[in-house]
Amino acid sequence: MTLAIAVASDHAGFELKQTLKQELEKRGITARDFGTTGMESCDYPDFAHAVGRAVADGAVQLAVLVCGTGVGMSIAANRNAFVRAVVCSEPLSARMARQHNDANVLCLGARVVGVGTAIDIVDAFLTARFEGGRHAARVAKINAN
Ligand code: RB5
Repeated sequence: MTLAIAVASDHAGFELKQTLKQELEKRGITARDFGTTGMESCDYPDFAHAVGRAVADGAVQLAVLVCGTGVGMSIAANRNAFVRAVVCSEPLSARMARQHNDANVLCLGARVVGVGTAIDIVDAFLTARFEGGRHAARVAKINAN
């Protein structure tokens, strides 16, 4: 099954989001772009919540959110109970977040990581698969408090 992927950013992440979209196209992946559409100042929660709803209703399976640090996007996205968003600044965490935590939203900081590292992180996130097994029970416990 082909994964449906969303991308979104605020103004601080706009340029990196555009670059990542192009990189995904090179890999044959057309990501659904939830904005923003330019460098004008805007509010990252608006985009995090829109993408969170798309993940929750199954419109997309995975998403990449970009803001200045990735932090605001991850905090906002994680308010949705169906979202497991992670901020990563290197590929190992992104791969493990998929394999062990079944993370479905990757958050990047455009002011933190360079373009090359960001591409490597996205590749690691999108190519890794959740391993299930003992990890599935742990992931199930996340919302069971
Ligand atoms: C915008 O200046 C910045 O606060 C935002 O992109 C993000 O880094 C918040 O977490």
